Amino acid sequence: MRFALVTLAAIASIAAAVIAASPDRGPESAKVELGRKLFVEPLLSADGSVSCATCHNPALAFTDGRPLSIGIHGRAGQRNAPTVLNARFNKAQFWDGRAATLEEQAGLPITNPSEMGQASLAAAVEAIAAIRHYRREFFSAFGREMNGADLVHAIAAYERTLVSFDSPFDRFAAGEANAIDDAAKRGWELFNTKARCNLCHAPSEKQRDTTYFTDFDYHNIGIGILAHDVAGAWRTAERELAAGTLDSVDRAAIESELSVLGRFLVTRKAADTAAFKTPGLRNVLVTAPYFHDGSQATLWDVIDHYNKGDGLKDAWLDEDIQPLALTESEIDDLVAFLASLTSAQYRDLGKRELARQRALARTSRPQRDTARAFGPKPARPKPPAL
Ligand code: HEC
Ligand code: HEC
Repeated sequence: MRFALVTLAAIASIAAAVIAASPDRGPESAKVELGRKLFVEPLLSADGSVSCATCHNPALAFTDGRPLSIGIHGRAGQRNAPTVLNARFNKAQFWDGRAATLEEQAGLPITNPSEMGQASLAAAVEAIAAIRHYRREFFSAFGREMNGADLVHAIAAYERTLVSFDSPFDRFAAGEANAIDDAAKRGWELFNTKARCNLCHAPSEKQRDTTYFTDFDYHNIGIGILAHDVAGAWRTAERELAAGTLDSVDRAAIESELSVLGRFLVTRKAADTAAFKTPGLRNVLVTAPYFHDGSQATLWDVIDHYNKGDGLKDAWLDEDIQPLALTESEIDDLVAFLASLTSAQYRDLGKRELARQRALARTSRPQRDTARAFGPKPARPKPPAL
């Protein structure tokens, strides 16, 4: 009964947010329609080959299925493409939170040389303005000549409609006891207790949350930083980001080795070294591979990573990371819970993906280290000063 109340409250607050974002039904729906077209429009890129949907493909739950995204001229970036589903609920956009709004976010891939490669937002507007139906649709949506601000506004208006709940877990949380199987129920218990996932994937540890599965904060969970000369990267970042523009942070994050510094690129605080945004976990089964660098292929690999408390030699590792001593059947239960967060529209994709990951995990568990998972919590190194 408690779950039912939480979920109804959550749905009410989501509905209120959706209504608040569309005060003028007529023009707002014209903006959404225009944004829907622009999202799949390759002409927005410098050579007409890449659209937002190239990396956020609706058929793949608005991701690209690659570890790292590939933009124009086959250029690979440094980060994994997150889903755009439910991105409207993010407190900030990108793995490091460098964009405050969906509008601010949308302008950056258009001009990033490794993504859509336009010289400027104005150049993208010009490319689109060459097509008559866009001129007409912009005018009916905004009542004025095309410009960059309206372009990103239309895309953001469309993205705000990409709300995806309605998973088996939501039906369970609303009181339908058999909507998920026993393994997923055990996984949900573990998530909030022994596996300690709720320390970050919930707004508060004190109360179970069935809506967002994130604390909207940034943590270093031990992905990748150890292979780098951190002090050297700090110095390079201080130099290259001296101008402090959002564009320079965007280029560092997508195009350079500095990407590993994560939230540090935004705040320039040593404590934020290699900290990344806690992602919400809805539809996580169908948005593999995982983590900001796409380094993990399956949900089993993700949980193996947490189970051994990886990154314990990383001086900036979040204090909540420690060995978990999860057994194999507990790991399976956690995967079953995560799989239950798949929205109805991706149910078939989810079934295929779970079978694919399970088969892969049977022969390949590169992160599994049972001795460490069941070992003591090792001493932590002291962070050097910035
Ligand atoms: C070349 C691939 C590529 C293209 C093209 C691309 N994106 Fe992305 N997108 C990414 C990657 C990679 C990230 C994560 C980058 C980061 O966090 O530093 C991202 C992040 C985002 C986010 C933030 C989501 C979150 O949870 O923080 C949104 C929203 C988004 N993209 C929307 C768009 C829109 C709108 C367009 C078109 C204007 C677009 N993307 C074009 C690859 C791409
Ligand atoms: C200390 C905070 C913290 C804890 C504890 C934690 N997570 Fe995370 N989780 C994060 C952050 C931050 C990321 C993104 C890290 C990155 O990519 O560098 C993440 C990423 C993930 C991802 C990948 C999502 C994607 O879209 O790539 C999954 C799945 C996940 N966590 C599940 C879990 C599970 C299951 C547990 C419990 C066993 C757990 N997390 C415990 C903070 C945490």
